[in-house]
Amino acid sequence: MRRPLGVTVHRHIVDSQRLHPEATGDLSGLLNELIVAGKTISAEVNMAGLADILGMSGKTNIQGEEVQKLDEFANRTIVRRMARSGYLCVMTSEEEDTVIPVEEGYEGKYTLAFDPMDGSSNIDVNVSIGTIFAVHRRRSATGQGDLADLLQPGRDQVAAGYILYGSSTMLVFTTGHGVHGFTLDPSVGEFYLSHADIRTPERARYLSLNTGNRPYWQPRVRDFFDMVNEPDADKGRPYSSRYIGSLVADFHRNLITGGLFAYPRDSRDAGKSHGKLRLLYEAAPLAMLIEQAGGRAITDDGRNILDIEPEDLHQRVPLIIGSKLDVDEAEEFLGS
Ligand code: AHG
Ligand code: MN
Ligand code: MN
Repeated sequence: MRRPLGVTVHRHIVDSQRLHPEATGDLSGLLNELIVAGKTISAEVNMAGLADILGMSGKTNIQGEEVQKLDEFANRTIVRRMARSGYLCVMTSEEEDTVIPVEEGYEGKYTLAFDPMDGSSNIDVNVSIGTIFAVHRRRSATGQGDLADLLQPGRDQVAAGYILYGSSTMLVFTTGHGVHGFTLDPSVGEFYLSHADIRTPERARYLSLNTGNRPYWQPRVRDFFDMVNEPDADKGRPYSSRYIGSLVADFHRNLITGGLFAYPRDSRDAGKSHGKLRLLYEAAPLAMLIEQAGGRAITDDGRNILDIEPEDLHQRVPLIIGSKLDVDEAEEFLGS
């Protein structure tokens, strides 16, 4: 019996493009180039244990964080491939202080913000890590893009997604028509549709946050998460606790099973007084994904992540993201 013909991500992108007769194919081309970069990174991640790519590069990034060699490799792979793709006018990366120009003569109509390797602290201990990306239409007319092209609210994203380098490599993304998951068949080098139209359960099953920081949350936030831990049969509480320290891995598990993830602001660490996670290339793309899958994303004072007007490339925001009913409750409790 012939094996059913798997839907490749390329086929899915072409079919999605058909929904837009006016489409020029540039967004499709952009996504396909990004997918090639993701496959390149995946191959390196899977070899990292063997190649000399584990460990620190000896540098620190604008976040003041130790840059792991794999962060650098992933960043370089994406920048080099996308700068010459012809689809972008400007980029920003967690690993680069300022805007990243594209190659002269290759200016396109989109912008790209990305976290090349999320969950870096887990690279050397073989825990899932990932690449997160967000795409906007440029605001400037032509030529090289600039800061204003990048500082756009998440509501205006045209595409968002991540590549998860885990027990298998998965690509999960949206272009505003639902969330779809693809699993890489490394023997063929193709991503095949494995999770069509993902919907996140409206009630959480897991609670994901670093309770080690509890003493440093705002009192109202502490009260909310204490309440969520109280037994409540109607809400299936208390939830099981699952926190792996890789946002992209925690997010993906919760997207599939239902969950509530939080990284609130932290009074102990000045660098986290607005939370640890970055708006442009962590919170906003995941907020688009979760809303497309029926969930929600807010700050720890009840604002919708997608409505925040960015003021800085590496702006941090407190993040509460996941199942709709639980985030609604958080919004009511924290926003009041
Ligand atoms: P990155 O590796 O891109 O810097 O992101 C790490 C983030 C995120 O992946 C994760 O949720 C969070 O750091 C974990 O932070 P704590 O170790 O402070 O809990
Ligand atoms: Mn990250
Ligand atoms: Mn990172």
